Amino acid sequence: MDKITILSLQQMKDEKKKITMLTAYDFPMASLLDQCGVDILLVGDSVGNTILGYENTLPVTMEEMIHHTKAVVKGRKRSLVVADMPFMSYQVSIEEAKRNAGRLIKEGGAEAVKVEGGENVEPVIRAICEIDIPVMGHIGLTPQSIHRMGGYHLQGKEEKQRGKLLADALAVERGGAFALVLEVIPLSLAREVTQLLKIPTIGIGAGIHCDGQVLVINDLLGVISGFRPKFVKKYTNLQEIIAQAVKEFISEVSEEKFPEEKHSFT
Ligand code: KIV
Repeated sequence: MDKITILSLQQMKDEKKKITMLTAYDFPMASLLDQCGVDILLVGDSVGNTILGYENTLPVTMEEMIHHTKAVVKGRKRSLVVADMPFMSYQVSIEEAKRNAGRLIKEGGAEAVKVEGGENVEPVIRAICEIDIPVMGHIGLTPQSIHRMGGYHLQGKEEKQRGKLLADALAVERGGAFALVLEVIPLSLAREVTQLLKIPTIGIGAGIHCDGQVLVINDLLGVISGFRPKFVKKYTNLQEIIAQAVKEFISEVSEEKFPEEKHSFT
């Protein structure tokens, strides 16, 4: 299969072929997802809450993003690797944004970066694109804005918010982004954005009309129990499978059933 590039993603939109994106944070998972044929591996700053045990994505650092991006890049052959720019790595100045985007490419090995925001980050997107680093946008529910949003709520429900999100989507495209994540917005708004933009939209909690879909891998696999947002489909329950295997190991060790002779050296 051909290597996925930002050009192939545009071609997929133009040919109405759906794009798939999943988060990945380490080498074995990246390698597995790549072999399964996922188009984009997103090293999301969701690594903060899914892997590092943080309450939200805000504490995630550049060093952590580079560390996980390196591991994911080693595991992939075909997928495009996009790395999230963590909170405060692009908000202070254009210069810092360019330098940090550059680090994710140069040190991490990513092929593109993702930033959250609309009209407010248009100059940042433009500046990063001008140094030949492809940028993915992200609007709607943007987890780095948790304190402004007052929680992880549906965005774009009211007419005024809808207009603002349309303006944000256009700003991201105008800035030069190659794709746009739409997170937790009504499906009618996602359809409007998808029809309006030339670049592909990738939805999470944004309905069927987006050009592609993304999920956090831990949610899809059912690794952690607890609150599951409406838009998440748990395709399997890995937590149960892992717990079962580990309990079996514990009881076999205590009952001296493991290791058997075949696991031992004579
Ligand atoms: O960090 C992340 O995992 C994301 C996806 C939810 C799109 O930004």
